[in-house]
Amino acid sequence: MMAYYVADERRYDAMQYRRCGQSGVLLPSVSLGMWHNFGAVDDFERSRQIMRYAFDNGITHFDLANNYGPPYGSAEITFGRLMDEDFRPYRDEMFVATKAGYDMWPGPYGNWGSRKYLMASLNQSLSRMHLEYVDLFYSHRYDPETPLEETLQALVDIVRSGKALYVGISRWPLEATRTAFQYLRERDVPCLIYQGRINLLDHAPIEEGILELCRKEGVGFISFSPLAQGLLTDRYLHGIPEGSRMSRGKFLRPDMLTEEVLQRICQYNVEAEAEGKSLAEYALSWVLRQKGVTSVIVGASSTTQLDRNLCAGR
Ligand SMILES: NC(=O)c1ccc[n+]([C@@H]2O[C@H](COP(=O)([O-])OP(=O)(O)OC[C@H]3O[C@@H](n4cnc5c(N)ncnc54)[C@H](OP(=O)(O)O)[C@@H]3O)[C@@H](O)[C@H]2O)c1
Repeated sequence: MMAYYVADERRYDAMQYRRCGQSGVLLPSVSLGMWHNFGAVDDFERSRQIMRYAFDNGITHFDLANNYGPPYGSAEITFGRLMDEDFRPYRDEMFVATKAGYDMWPGPYGNWGSRKYLMASLNQSLSRMHLEYVDLFYSHRYDPETPLEETLQALVDIVRSGKALYVGISRWPLEATRTAFQYLRERDVPCLIYQGRINLLDHAPIEEGILELCRKEGVGFISFSPLAQGLLTDRYLHGIPEGSRMSRGKFLRPDMLTEEVLQRICQYNVEAEAEGKSLAEYALSWVLRQKGVTSVIVGASSTTQLDRNLCAGR
Protein backbone atom coordinates (compact mmCIF):
# COMPACT_ATOMS: atom_id res chain seq x y z
CA MET A 1 0.00 0.00 0.00
CA MET A 2 1.29 3.42 -0.89
CA ALA A 3 1.93 6.00 1.81
CA TYR A 4 -0.82 8.54 2.07
CA TYR A 5 -1.29 12.06 3.27
CA VAL A 6 1.95 13.83 3.86
CA ALA A 7 0.84 17.42 4.07
CA ASP A 8 3.74 18.87 2.13
CA GLU A 9 3.57 16.30 -0.63
CA ARG A 10 0.14 16.67 -2.13
CA ARG A 11 0.48 15.67 -5.73
CA TYR A 12 -1.25 18.41 -7.65
CA ASP A 13 0.92 17.52 -10.64
CA ALA A 14 -0.66 14.04 -10.68
CA MET A 15 -4.12 15.40 -11.49
CA GLN A 16 -5.62 17.24 -14.43
CA TYR A 17 -7.77 20.24 -13.43
CA ARG A 18 -10.51 21.39 -15.76
CA ARG A 19 -12.41 24.64 -15.93
CA CYS A 20 -15.98 24.28 -14.74
CA GLY A 21 -18.04 25.76 -17.57
CA GLN A 22 -17.19 29.44 -18.00
CA SER A 23 -16.54 29.99 -14.30
CA GLY A 24 -13.31 30.73 -12.50
CA VAL A 25 -13.37 27.33 -10.80
CA LEU A 26 -11.03 24.49 -11.72
CA LEU A 27 -12.15 21.02 -10.65
CA PRO A 28 -10.09 17.84 -10.63
CA SER A 29 -11.09 15.55 -13.49
CA VAL A 30 -11.66 12.85 -10.84
CA SER A 31 -13.67 13.91 -7.76
CA LEU A 32 -14.57 11.82 -4.70
CA GLY A 33 -18.18 11.01 -3.75
CA MET A 34 -19.27 10.14 -0.22
CA TRP A 35 -22.63 8.51 -0.87
CA HIS A 36 -21.21 5.17 0.30
CA ASN A 37 -18.23 4.23 2.51
CA PHE A 38 -18.45 7.29 4.81
CA GLY A 39 -21.51 6.48 6.91
CA ALA A 40 -21.68 5.65 10.60
CA VAL A 41 -21.95 1.98 9.53
CA ASP A 42 -18.54 2.16 7.86
CA ASP A 43 -15.14 1.78 9.46
CA PHE A 44 -13.99 5.33 10.28
CA GLU A 45 -10.30 4.56 9.78
CA ARG A 46 -10.97 3.22 6.30
CA SER A 47 -13.01 6.31 5.41
CA ARG A 48 -10.14 8.43 6.70
CA GLN A 49 -7.62 6.53 4.56
CA ILE A 50 -9.73 6.99 1.43
CA MET A 51 -10.18 10.73 1.96
CA ARG A 52 -6.51 11.26 2.82
CA TYR A 53 -5.43 9.22 -0.17
CA ALA A 54 -7.73 11.22 -2.42
CA PHE A 55 -6.48 14.59 -1.19
CA ASP A 56 -2.88 13.47 -1.27
CA ASN A 57 -3.28 12.58 -4.92
CA GLY A 58 -4.84 15.80 -6.14
CA ILE A 59 -8.56 15.22 -5.53
CA THR A 60 -9.70 18.59 -4.24
CA HIS A 61 -13.43 18.16 -4.82
CA PHE A 62 -15.59 16.20 -2.35
CA ASP A 63 -19.24 15.53 -3.08
CA LEU A 64 -21.75 14.99 -0.26
CA ALA A 65 -25.48 15.31 0.36
CA ASN A 66 -27.57 15.74 3.50
CA ASN A 67 -28.84 12.15 3.36
CA TYR A 68 -25.61 10.25 2.62
CA GLY A 69 -24.79 7.60 5.22
CA PRO A 70 -26.41 5.45 6.41
CA PRO A 71 -27.96 6.68 8.57
CA TYR A 72 -28.87 9.96 6.88
CA GLY A 73 -26.50 12.77 7.81
CA SER A 74 -23.72 10.48 8.96
CA ALA A 75 -21.44 10.97 5.92
CA GLU A 76 -21.45 14.70 6.72
CA ILE A 77 -20.68 13.87 10.36
CA THR A 78 -17.73 11.70 9.27
CA PHE A 79 -16.59 14.54 7.01
CA GLY A 80 -16.85 17.02 9.92
CA ARG A 81 -14.73 14.78 12.12
CA LEU A 82 -12.14 14.48 9.36
CA MET A 83 -12.13 18.28 9.00
CA ASP A 84 -11.43 18.64 12.73
CA GLU A 85 -8.81 15.92 12.96
CA ASP A 86 -6.99 16.18 9.62
CA PHE A 87 -8.12 18.72 7.07
CA ARG A 88 -8.81 22.06 8.80
CA PRO A 89 -5.45 23.58 7.72
CA TYR A 90 -6.29 22.71 4.12
CA ARG A 91 -9.84 24.11 3.90
CA ASP A 92 -8.90 26.62 1.22
CA GLU A 93 -7.43 23.84 -0.94
CA MET A 94 -10.73 21.95 -0.89
CA PHE A 95 -13.94 22.36 -2.87
CA VAL A 96 -16.78 20.88 -0.83
CA ALA A 97 -20.30 20.25 -2.11
CA THR A 98 -23.52 19.21 -0.43
CA LYS A 99 -27.14 18.92 -1.53
CA ALA A 100 -30.75 18.80 -0.41
CA GLY A 101 -33.76 17.50 -2.31
CA TYR A 102 -34.50 13.94 -1.17
CA ASP A 103 -36.20 12.84 2.04
CA MET A 104 -34.18 13.85 5.06
CA TRP A 105 -36.41 14.31 8.09
CA PRO A 106 -40.06 13.51 8.84
CA GLY A 107 -42.95 15.84 8.15
CA PRO A 108 -43.67 18.23 5.30
CA TYR A 109 -40.47 20.33 5.54
CA GLY A 110 -37.78 17.65 5.15
CA ASN A 111 -38.06 16.80 1.45
CA TRP A 112 -38.26 18.23 -2.11
CA GLY A 113 -37.61 21.86 -3.06
CA SER A 114 -39.23 24.42 -0.78
CA ARG A 115 -37.26 27.39 0.50
CA LYS A 116 -38.04 26.16 4.03
CA TYR A 117 -36.40 22.76 3.38
CA LEU A 118 -33.35 23.98 1.45
CA MET A 119 -32.46 26.70 3.98
CA ALA A 120 -32.95 24.47 7.04
CA SER A 121 -31.10 21.57 5.46
CA LEU A 122 -28.05 23.64 4.56
CA ASN A 123 -27.88 24.97 8.13
CA GLN A 124 -27.94 21.38 9.40
CA SER A 125 -25.30 20.28 6.88
CA LEU A 126 -22.93 23.08 7.90
CA SER A 127 -23.27 22.13 11.53
CA ARG A 128 -22.63 18.41 10.82
CA MET A 129 -19.66 19.19 8.57
CA HIS A 130 -18.17 21.77 10.97
CA LEU A 131 -17.93 24.29 8.14
CA GLU A 132 -18.88 27.95 7.94
CA TYR A 133 -19.77 27.64 4.27
CA VAL A 134 -19.78 25.05 1.49
CA ASP A 135 -18.23 25.78 -1.85
CA LEU A 136 -21.20 24.35 -3.71
CA PHE A 137 -24.81 23.75 -2.75
CA TYR A 138 -27.15 21.77 -5.00
CA SER A 139 -30.85 21.33 -5.43
CA HIS A 140 -30.60 17.51 -5.48
CA ARG A 141 -33.71 17.01 -7.59
CA TYR A 142 -36.43 18.86 -9.45
CA ASP A 143 -39.66 19.35 -7.48
CA PRO A 144 -42.67 19.44 -9.84
CA GLU A 145 -44.94 20.83 -7.12
CA THR A 146 -42.94 23.75 -5.78
CA PRO A 147 -42.77 26.83 -8.03
CA LEU A 148 -39.38 26.78 -9.76
CA GLU A 149 -38.87 30.40 -8.74
CA GLU A 150 -39.12 29.49 -5.05
CA THR A 151 -36.40 26.83 -5.26
CA LEU A 152 -34.20 29.01 -7.44
CA GLN A 153 -34.61 32.14 -5.31
CA ALA A 154 -33.62 30.06 -2.27
CA LEU A 155 -30.40 29.13 -4.12
CA VAL A 156 -29.76 32.80 -4.94
CA ASP A 157 -30.33 33.85 -1.32
CA ILE A 158 -28.10 31.05 -0.03
CA VAL A 159 -25.21 32.44 -2.07
CA ARG A 160 -26.03 36.01 -0.96
CA SER A 161 -26.00 34.83 2.68
CA GLY A 162 -22.46 33.50 2.25
CA LYS A 163 -23.40 29.93 3.23
CA ALA A 164 -22.45 28.66 -0.23
CA LEU A 165 -20.10 30.19 -2.79
CA TYR A 166 -21.76 28.59 -5.82
CA VAL A 167 -24.92 26.67 -6.60
CA GLY A 168 -25.77 23.77 -8.88
CA ILE A 169 -28.68 21.55 -9.81
CA SER A 170 -28.83 17.78 -10.06
CA ARG A 171 -31.15 15.50 -12.06
CA TRP A 172 -33.39 18.33 -13.29
CA PRO A 173 -35.24 17.76 -16.60
CA LEU A 174 -34.23 19.74 -19.68
CA GLU A 175 -36.82 22.54 -19.78
CA ALA A 176 -36.63 23.24 -16.05
CA THR A 177 -32.85 23.26 -16.37
CA ARG A 178 -33.05 25.87 -19.11
CA THR A 179 -35.29 28.04 -16.89
CA ALA A 180 -32.95 27.56 -13.94
CA PHE A 181 -29.87 28.64 -15.90
CA GLN A 182 -31.64 31.78 -17.06
CA TYR A 183 -33.17 32.66 -13.69
CA LEU A 184 -29.88 32.28 -11.85
CA ARG A 185 -27.86 34.14 -14.50
CA GLU A 186 -30.27 37.10 -14.42
CA ARG A 187 -29.67 37.40 -10.66
CA ASP A 188 -25.87 37.29 -11.00
CA VAL A 189 -25.66 33.88 -9.34
CA PRO A 190 -24.93 31.76 -12.42
CA CYS A 191 -25.41 28.03 -12.08
CA LEU A 192 -21.89 26.61 -11.67
CA ILE A 193 -22.59 23.00 -12.54
CA TYR A 194 -25.16 20.36 -13.43
CA GLN A 195 -24.83 16.92 -11.81
CA GLY A 196 -26.18 13.96 -13.80
CA ARG A 197 -25.31 10.38 -14.64
CA ILE A 198 -23.29 9.65 -17.76
CA ASN A 199 -21.46 6.37 -18.12
CA LEU A 200 -20.88 3.71 -20.77
CA LEU A 201 -24.21 2.07 -19.86
CA ASP A 202 -26.32 5.22 -19.45
CA HIS A 203 -26.15 8.21 -21.81
CA ALA A 204 -29.44 9.90 -20.82
CA PRO A 205 -28.11 13.47 -20.24
CA ILE A 206 -26.44 13.31 -23.68
CA GLU A 207 -29.55 11.98 -25.44
CA GLU A 208 -31.87 14.42 -23.64
CA GLY A 209 -29.73 17.42 -24.67
CA ILE A 210 -28.71 18.38 -21.13
CA LEU A 211 -24.97 18.10 -21.76
CA GLU A 212 -25.30 20.22 -24.89
CA LEU A 213 -27.33 22.84 -23.02
CA CYS A 214 -24.64 23.03 -20.32
CA ARG A 215 -21.99 23.48 -22.99
CA LYS A 216 -23.91 26.26 -24.72
CA GLU A 217 -24.68 28.05 -21.46
CA GLY A 218 -21.16 27.79 -20.05
CA VAL A 219 -22.28 25.59 -17.15
CA GLY A 220 -20.05 22.71 -16.02
CA PHE A 221 -21.25 19.10 -16.00
CA ILE A 222 -20.18 16.49 -13.45
CA SER A 223 -21.08 12.83 -13.79
CA PHE A 224 -22.14 10.74 -10.82
CA SER A 225 -21.84 6.92 -10.82
CA PRO A 226 -19.43 7.00 -13.79
CA LEU A 227 -18.61 3.34 -13.07
CA ALA A 228 -22.32 2.41 -12.86
CA GLN A 229 -21.81 1.68 -9.13
CA GLY A 230 -18.99 -0.77 -9.92
CA LEU A 231 -20.53 -2.58 -12.91
CA LEU A 232 -17.97 -0.90 -15.18
CA THR A 233 -14.99 -2.39 -13.32
CA ASP A 234 -13.66 -5.91 -12.99
CA ARG A 235 -15.83 -6.35 -9.84
CA TYR A 236 -18.60 -8.43 -11.45
CA LEU A 237 -16.84 -10.09 -14.40
CA HIS A 238 -16.80 -13.43 -12.60
CA GLY A 239 -19.81 -13.34 -10.27
CA ILE A 240 -20.86 -11.24 -7.29
CA PRO A 241 -18.07 -10.98 -4.71
CA GLU A 242 -18.76 -11.00 -0.98
CA GLY A 243 -18.80 -7.46 0.44
CA SER A 244 -19.42 -5.76 -2.94
CA ARG A 245 -22.18 -3.16 -3.32
CA MET A 246 -24.25 -5.66 -5.30
CA SER A 247 -23.90 -8.31 -2.59
CA ARG A 248 -25.54 -5.81 -0.21
CA GLY A 249 -28.29 -5.44 -2.81
CA LYS A 250 -29.90 -2.12 -1.85
CA PHE A 251 -28.82 0.33 -4.56
CA LEU A 252 -27.19 -2.12 -6.98
CA ARG A 253 -29.26 -5.27 -7.19
CA PRO A 254 -28.25 -8.62 -8.69
CA ASP A 255 -31.16 -8.37 -11.17
CA MET A 256 -29.41 -5.32 -12.71
CA LEU A 257 -26.61 -7.63 -13.88
CA THR A 258 -28.59 -9.07 -16.77
CA GLU A 259 -27.05 -11.31 -19.42
CA GLU A 260 -27.07 -8.35 -21.81
CA VAL A 261 -25.32 -6.03 -19.32
CA LEU A 262 -22.73 -8.72 -18.57
CA GLN A 263 -22.03 -9.15 -22.28
CA ARG A 264 -21.55 -5.41 -22.73
CA ILE A 265 -19.23 -5.23 -19.72
CA CYS A 266 -17.16 -8.16 -21.04
CA GLN A 267 -16.94 -6.47 -24.46
CA TYR A 268 -15.80 -3.19 -22.88
CA ASN A 269 -13.24 -5.16 -20.89
CA VAL A 270 -11.81 -6.61 -24.12
CA GLU A 271 -11.60 -3.09 -25.59
CA ALA A 272 -9.94 -1.82 -22.38
CA GLU A 273 -7.35 -4.60 -22.44
CA ALA A 274 -6.55 -3.80 -26.07
CA GLU A 275 -5.70 -0.26 -24.93
CA GLY A 276 -3.68 -1.57 -21.98
CA LYS A 277 -6.19 -0.10 -19.49
CA SER A 278 -8.27 -1.49 -16.66
CA LEU A 279 -12.01 -1.49 -17.35
CA ALA A 280 -12.46 1.23 -14.69
CA GLU A 281 -9.89 3.50 -16.32
CA TYR A 282 -11.39 2.85 -19.77
CA ALA A 283 -14.91 3.67 -18.52
CA LEU A 284 -13.86 6.87 -16.73
CA SER A 285 -11.76 8.05 -19.71
CA TRP A 286 -14.81 7.59 -21.96
CA VAL A 287 -16.93 9.88 -19.76
CA LEU A 288 -14.16 12.46 -19.51
CA ARG A 289 -13.88 12.56 -23.32
CA GLN A 290 -17.51 13.69 -23.74
CA LYS A 291 -17.40 17.36 -24.70
CA GLY A 292 -18.68 19.50 -21.85
CA VAL A 293 -17.95 17.05 -19.01
CA THR A 294 -15.85 18.73 -16.33
CA SER A 295 -15.30 15.88 -13.88
CA VAL A 296 -16.42 12.41 -12.80
CA ILE A 297 -17.41 11.69 -9.18
CA VAL A 298 -16.16 8.25 -8.29
CA GLY A 299 -16.92 6.20 -5.21
CA ALA A 300 -14.35 3.85 -3.72
CA SER A 301 -14.42 1.34 -0.88
CA SER A 302 -10.60 1.14 -0.69
CA THR A 303 -7.52 3.15 -1.58
CA THR A 304 -6.59 0.41 -4.05
CA GLN A 305 -9.80 1.05 -6.02
CA LEU A 306 -9.29 4.79 -5.81
CA ASP A 307 -5.74 4.44 -7.05
CA ARG A 308 -6.96 2.54 -10.14
CA ASN A 309 -9.59 5.20 -10.80
CA LEU A 310 -7.08 8.01 -10.46
CA CYS A 311 -5.28 6.78 -13.60
CA ALA A 312 -8.11 8.31 -15.63
CA GLY A 313 -7.50 11.74 -14.12
CA ARG A 314 -3.83 12.02 -15.08
N1 LIG B 1 -26.80 13.52 -7.70
C1 LIG B 1 -27.23 12.32 -7.41
O1 LIG B 1 -28.43 12.06 -7.35
C2 LIG B 1 -26.24 11.23 -7.14
C3 LIG B 1 -26.62 9.86 -7.23
C4 LIG B 1 -25.66 8.89 -7.00
C5 LIG B 1 -24.36 9.26 -6.68
N2 LIG B 1 -24.01 10.59 -6.58
C6 LIG B 1 -22.62 11.00 -6.26
O2 LIG B 1 -21.72 10.27 -7.07
C7 LIG B 1 -20.78 9.59 -6.25
C8 LIG B 1 -20.29 8.35 -6.91
O3 LIG B 1 -21.38 7.43 -7.09
P1 LIG B 1 -21.09 5.88 -7.06
O4 LIG B 1 -20.51 5.51 -5.74
O5 LIG B 1 -22.30 5.18 -7.55
O6 LIG B 1 -19.90 5.83 -8.17
P2 LIG B 1 -19.19 4.71 -9.01
O7 LIG B 1 -17.78 5.22 -9.10
O8 LIG B 1 -19.93 4.44 -10.26
O9 LIG B 1 -19.24 3.38 -8.10
C9 LIG B 1 -18.45 3.29 -6.95
C10 LIG B 1 -18.40 1.85 -6.45
O10 LIG B 1 -17.89 0.97 -7.44
C11 LIG B 1 -16.93 0.07 -6.88
N3 LIG B 1 -15.61 0.46 -7.45
C12 LIG B 1 -15.11 1.71 -7.62
N4 LIG B 1 -13.90 1.66 -8.19
C13 LIG B 1 -13.60 0.37 -8.40
C14 LIG B 1 -12.50 -0.30 -8.97
N5 LIG B 1 -11.45 0.37 -9.46
N6 LIG B 1 -12.53 -1.66 -9.04
C15 LIG B 1 -13.59 -2.36 -8.56
N7 LIG B 1 -14.69 -1.78 -8.00
C16 LIG B 1 -14.70 -0.42 -7.92
C17 LIG B 1 -17.01 0.28 -5.38
O11 LIG B 1 -18.06 -0.53 -4.85
P3 LIG B 1 -17.83 -1.76 -3.84
O12 LIG B 1 -18.58 -1.39 -2.62
O13 LIG B 1 -18.43 -2.93 -4.55
O14 LIG B 1 -16.36 -1.93 -3.60
C18 LIG B 1 -17.42 1.74 -5.28
O15 LIG B 1 -18.01 2.10 -4.05
C19 LIG B 1 -21.53 9.38 -4.93
O16 LIG B 1 -20.66 9.13 -3.84
C20 LIG B 1 -22.25 10.69 -4.81
O17 LIG B 1 -21.34 11.67 -4.32
C21 LIG B 1 -24.93 11.56 -6.80
